[in-house]
Amino acid sequence: MGFWKASCSVLLVCFFVGLCSMYQCSAAEADANQTVNLIVNASSGRPIPETLFGIFFEEINHAGAGGIWAELVSNRGFEAGGQNTPSNIAPWLHSECMCSVTVREIISAQLVELEYTIPGFWGMNIEQGKTYKVVIYVRSPGSINVSVSLTSSDGSPILATANIVDSDVSNWTKKEVLLEAKGTNHKSRLQLTTSRKGVIWFDQVSAMPLDTYKGHGFQKELIEMLEDIKPQFIRFPGGCFVEGEWLRNAFRWKESIGPWEERPGHFGDVWMYWTDDGLGYFEFLQLSEDLGARPIWVFNNGISHRDEVDTTTVSPFVQEAIDGLEFARGASDSKWGSVRAAMGHPEPFDLKYVAVGNEDCRKKNYRGNYLEFYDAIKHAYPDIKIISNCDGSSHSLDHPADYYDFHIYTSASHLFSMTHQFDHTSRSGPKAFVSEYAVTGKDAGTGSLLAALAEAGFLIGLEKNSDIVEMASYAPLFVNANDRRWNPDAIVFNSSMHYGTPSYWVQKFFRESSGATLLDAKLQTNSSSLVASAITWTSSVDGETYLKIKIVNFGNRQVSLKVSVDGLGLNSLLSGSTKTVLTSSNVMDENSFTDPNKVAPDLSLLENADRDMNIILSPYSLTSLDLLTESNNIRMPQANSSARPSI
Ligand code: AHR
Repeated sequence: MGFWKASCSVLLVCFFVGLCSMYQCSAAEADANQTVNLIVNASSGRPIPETLFGIFFEEINHAGAGGIWAELVSNRGFEAGGQNTPSNIAPWLHSECMCSVTVREIISAQLVELEYTIPGFWGMNIEQGKTYKVVIYVRSPGSINVSVSLTSSDGSPILATANIVDSDVSNWTKKEVLLEAKGTNHKSRLQLTTSRKGVIWFDQVSAMPLDTYKGHGFQKELIEMLEDIKPQFIRFPGGCFVEGEWLRNAFRWKESIGPWEERPGHFGDVWMYWTDDGLGYFEFLQLSEDLGARPIWVFNNGISHRDEVDTTTVSPFVQEAIDGLEFARGASDSKWGSVRAAMGHPEPFDLKYVAVGNEDCRKKNYRGNYLEFYDAIKHAYPDIKIISNCDGSSHSLDHPADYYDFHIYTSASHLFSMTHQFDHTSRSGPKAFVSEYAVTGKDAGTGSLLAALAEAGFLIGLEKNSDIVEMASYAPLFVNANDRRWNPDAIVFNSSMHYGTPSYWVQKFFRESSGATLLDAKLQTNSSSLVASAITWTSSVDGETYLKIKIVNFGNRQVSLKVSVDGLGLNSLLSGSTKTVLTSSNVMDENSFTDPNKVAPDLSLLENADRDMNIILSPYSLTSLDLLTESNNIRMPQANSSARPSI
């Protein structure tokens, strides 16, 4: 009898522990319907930095080429493969009969007869009524008559077509046609056809929709997803993409500017694909400006994953960075500023932040190289803020910096617990830039609710520590579903569809935080599965002041929350207050092309909005209470937000 009793209790304990680790619950969740108090003091607070929440764009997962950059042609100069290996024509296809392909030193393609087709990046999305500009460089010893068509994936029907006819193209000649699509096909291709026997050389073949974001070449729908989360900065263009597996394959800004036809392109050997670099340094700066986000330029510091330049020979890299700053900020008659002006932007870009390398702190030459960059940049541009790759959150840096980079990819329970990561970090020295964070691995899959909630908990911790953490960005931002190099990501797309993962939606809950006022918000609970914050912010759209309370319930039980807002006058909450909840029936739920809004914020009117109110928090949920206040009833310590009304 005694034996059985003992065995049973061991069994029961094991079962309970098993459940908890599966759902990341804590002992407190075992009490069903616990009541928790949240006390918000609306009469005191401190400003959150204007810069707090931004985005990190990396050329990974075909996020840029075949992604936000609207170019439909892949390998438009037949240069994929680079200078050191025979160039290749892929993904171009040519009909098998009577057609030959020659890609030679000058790297162009020869059409003898019949046709070339290109499916672009996993099919071109051609939409009825939209106009596409096709540019082709041609050369031929004889006259030409080439049809340029957008067709469905098997060549029929033809969605749009035009002819290029010329009797003299003995020298390279640029030809442009506008094609208006008469039908829609998400997997279209561009087809070049001739029925005349002869030799025609092609080079730099481009097809772009005319309608792009602010006319600057970006896919509208994808950039609008970014606009919607109101990023305060863009860190670009990587990540590992900046480093390269080998230095010779790293992104180098000088090869990504000027007329697109003259850019050599390069093979990114970390994420293993070719980019024509139509999306180059200038375009990143332009995108930052168009989104009203501060550019943060990450440049190569003479270090890749596998090779490094010694500090004694790093000066060409330093000069390259200084030239890059002149390109962005120099007068339009300066050497590099004039190149920018010739590209259509005579005014300087507002570049004030640079990061010296990416994740290179432990590399042999990092400190030596870093100091060369630091001294040269501070000398030429004293106002530029410099970000070090070395983490200064647990000990002081041994070199000067304005910010230190902090990257974290981990499990859901660990990231959620990191809500306290910066609570005890030294407040002197450089500020923290959490430039990459995400839940990864089995907790995240390709973008689960569980991952998103852990990230929300972490972000609430960053809001509370925003006196030391001045910037944070989720990573990676985009994935083309045809080339998943990294899971999960914030925004998933293919040629014609896109959706936000739950992690994307979490970003939206935080878009008003930058520049808002952080209020004192205390949770009275023993549970370690609940975190909350409160801010006030003023909408530039309706001029109203909102009090936003966010609570993450990271446990598997419903929670009854009693909210008390102190420091508000009587009747100071107006009708129109709302509650927004991100949750789902299963914590591992994800969105998909077929069910893009399975896990998405659910907005409802908050009928009982008051200084004291009871709210039910669903299990595994993020809840935002957006209380519309009578502005003069709330004391606003220096809040200055240009954000828009809430979700
Ligand atoms: O975000 C994906 C990668 O993770 C980045 O390129 C790199 O900085 C980090 O290791």
